[in-house]
Amino acid sequence: MKIKDEKAMLGLGRKLAAALRPGDVITLSGPLSAGKTTMVRGLLAGLGYRGEVPSPSFAIVQPYEDLKPPVWHVDLYRIEDPSDLEEIGLDDAGHDGVLLVEWPEHAGGNAWPWALALSLEVVGDGTRALTAEVPAAWEGRWPPR
Ligand SMILES: Nc1ncnc2c1ncn2[C@@H]1O[C@H](COP(=O)(O)OP(=O)(O)OP(=O)(O)O)[C@@H](O)[C@H]1O
Ligand SMILES: [Mg+2]
Repeated sequence: MKIKDEKAMLGLGRKLAAALRPGDVITLSGPLSAGKTTMVRGLLAGLGYRGEVPSPSFAIVQPYEDLKPPVWHVDLYRIEDPSDLEEIGLDDAGHDGVLLVEWPEHAGGNAWPWALALSLEVVGDGTRALTAEVPAAWEGRWPPR
């Protein structure tokens, strides 16, 4: 799927918000500035969040616990060893929280096999190509309408 500009990426995030279920994990792969955090901004806006959405590159985890469902925005860019994951408190999300994970490769091979795995590629000025690995849990929910 082609995403032609930032506005379209925000729109895709908003549509994803409407499809979310408690316990979902969405991984977002792609190079620096591919638009991962931009999609998360759209998704959080779709859940009614109106505040700032910082990139969690340094904090690593940014919780939005008051949303329905509650969301944990995670950026594993600075995680060098998958064993460091245990320290960052993702368990707080429990079974009902939603995890949105940038740089999931840094968690090792297949940390979230049930995740909707999205990959972004920069194909030109503003245009991004998105590919999705769609697990059983997301059949009928991807692409979001
Ligand atoms: N189609 C597009 N979708 C999303 N962002 C776009 C698009 N075209 C251009 N941009 C720009 O690219 C940048 C994307 O930044 P963003 O923080 O979302 O990237 P990121 O993938 O989260 O990077 P990082 O790996 O550093 O966290 C923004 O400056 C945005 O305006
Ligand atoms: Mg980012």
